[in-house]
Amino acid sequence: MTDEREITLTVNGTEHTVEVEPRRLLVHAIREDLDLTGTHIGCDTGNCGACTVLKDGEPIKSCLMFAAQADGAEILTVEGMEDLPEADGIHPLQEGFREEHGLQCGYCTPGMLMSGKALLDEDPDPDEETIRDAISGNLCRCTGYQNIVRSIEYAADELADRAAADGGAVAARTGESTADAGPDGGTAQTPSPEGGHEPPAVGGDADTFCGREDCCGGPSGADPFDREALLDDAEDGNGDAAVDADDRGDSV
Ligand code: FES
Ligand code: FES
Repeated sequence: MTDEREITLTVNGTEHTVEVEPRRLLVHAIREDLDLTGTHIGCDTGNCGACTVLKDGEPIKSCLMFAAQADGAEILTVEGMEDLPEADGIHPLQEGFREEHGLQCGYCTPGMLMSGKALLDEDPDPDEETIRDAISGNLCRCTGYQNIVRSIEYAADELADRAAADGGAVAARTGESTADAGPDGGTAQTPSPEGGHEPPAVGGDADTFCGREDCCGGPSGADPFDREALLDDAEDGNGDAAVDADDRGDSV
């Protein structure tokens, strides 16, 4: 007799309903039922941290929890990081691991990223000791940890720079859903007081460009491929790349 029960997991912003046996581990549900194999299994006994995911914002070892215990929870796995509001193509933590060579074989990396994410959500400017403490449940057999610490420091600096450049709006948005953040993850949605256009609705017209470096892709009439006009515009700040192109005798 099967004793399966239906549970609901919201993973990386998408709600899933799955049938699981009571003894099914969350990591197996994530990997096998949802086919999200970025979450790794290194030991299945709670020692290595390779299976770390965020459950309702808290890092947990998904091999130590039954899937049924996570019924109704919000789960974040490594696959969802690039869609977070603070990501810009890839998440600053992923960028940090790339720039600072924070991985060798990469087996521990998804778990490290999730522990790093939980840390930076809690403490945006951690010192080295705090970082080492935060990843103390994640084992790495390759790197010696030094570059992993640097990777997380890189991400903390990058997030701070982005927040400063964005007037704190990135930090404020980190609690919003990805869908609310817009097609670029919400990093370029501020209307320009110097003539930039209003931000478009989600999925707005990507074929137009107002000339701001952080253009959100809304309508302005400028040729999105006329880089010279766009650069002129960035200099004069009037948001009118079409006029700049006309000044040069080009048609837009
Ligand atoms: S697989 Fe979960 S801690 Fe190792
Ligand atoms: S990079 Fe190989 S286990 Fe960490």
